[in-house]
Amino acid sequence: MPPFSETLVERLACAERVAVLTGAGISAESGVPTFRDPDGLWQQFRPEELANIDAFLRNPVLVQGWYAHRRAVVEDVQPNPGHDALAELERLVPHFLLATQNVDDLHRRAGSERIIELHGNLTRSYCADCDRPASRDDLAAIDNGAEARCRSCAGLLRPDVVWFGEMLPDGAMERAAEAAAQADVFLSVGTRAVVYPAAGLPLIAREAGAYVVEVNVERSAIASEMSEVVLGPSGEVLPALLDAVRAFTE
Ligand code: APR
Repeated sequence: MPPFSETLVERLACAERVAVLTGAGISAESGVPTFRDPDGLWQQFRPEELANIDAFLRNPVLVQGWYAHRRAVVEDVQPNPGHDALAELERLVPHFLLATQNVDDLHRRAGSERIIELHGNLTRSYCADCDRPASRDDLAAIDNGAEARCRSCAGLLRPDVVWFGEMLPDGAMERAAEAAAQADVFLSVGTRAVVYPAAGLPLIAREAGAYVVEVNVERSAIASEMSEVVLGPSGEVLPALLDAVRAFTE
C-alpha cells in the first residue's frame, strides 16, 4: 500500500505545471545533516554564531572553516533517489520548477536543471568587498586555519549563501512564487517550513488552487494546510511516486 493517494498519482500524471519546494530533509538520506533535526547542524551551533554577516566579520576563520567543512561533506556524498526522482519528474512535466532552500548542489548533480537556489549554493564563494568570484585555490588558506582573502582587493571571501537577515538572490522568490501560483500540483519536500519567505510558497500554491502535497518524515508547521501529507523518507516516497505516475501514464 503506497503512502500516497491515487488522486496524487492522477494529478501528477495529468499536470501541465508542477512546482516543488525542497528543504534539508531531501538531502538527509545522502548523509547531509539537516538544520533542526536532533542531529542537525543547529544543534551544534546556533545560527547566530555562524550563518550571519556579523558572526562572519567577528570571526571569519571560524565561519570560513565551518563552510569549508560543509563543502567537504557535500563533495563527499551523492544525490539520493529522492533527488533523482525530482530530476526525472522535471523531464516528464511540460512546465516544472524546483525551488530549493538547500545549498548543497545535490539537485543539480542529480540532473535537475530548472532550479531556483533560494538560499544560494555553498560550492560557490566570492569576495565580500568586491564580489569577485573565488576559485578553490583562493580558499586554500582556510585549510591552514588562516583567513581566505580576495586576490584582487584582499577582502574576505564568503560562501555564496543567504545568511540570516540577508536578501534572497534578485528575483528568486518572485520566480518561485509565480511558479507556485500557476502550479497544478505543488510538492513541499523535506522542509520544516519555518523559514520565510520560502515556507510561504506552498501556501501561495494552495491559495491559487493547486493540489499541495507535503513529503516528510513528520508533519511540518504547515501540514494542516496541505491537500495531502505523505509521511515517509523522500528517498523512498518520491521514487515510488514516479513509478506510480509512469504506470498510470503507460
Ligand atoms: N525525508 C523527508 N523529510 C525529512 C527526512 C527525509 N529522509 N529527514 C528529515 N526530514 C525533514 C524533517 O522532518 C524536517 O521537517 O526535513 C525537515 C528538515 O527541516 P530543517 O532542518 O528545519 O531544514 P529546512 O526546513 O530546510 O530549513 C530551512 O532554515 O536554517 C535555515 O537556510 C537554512 O535552508 C535552511 C532553512
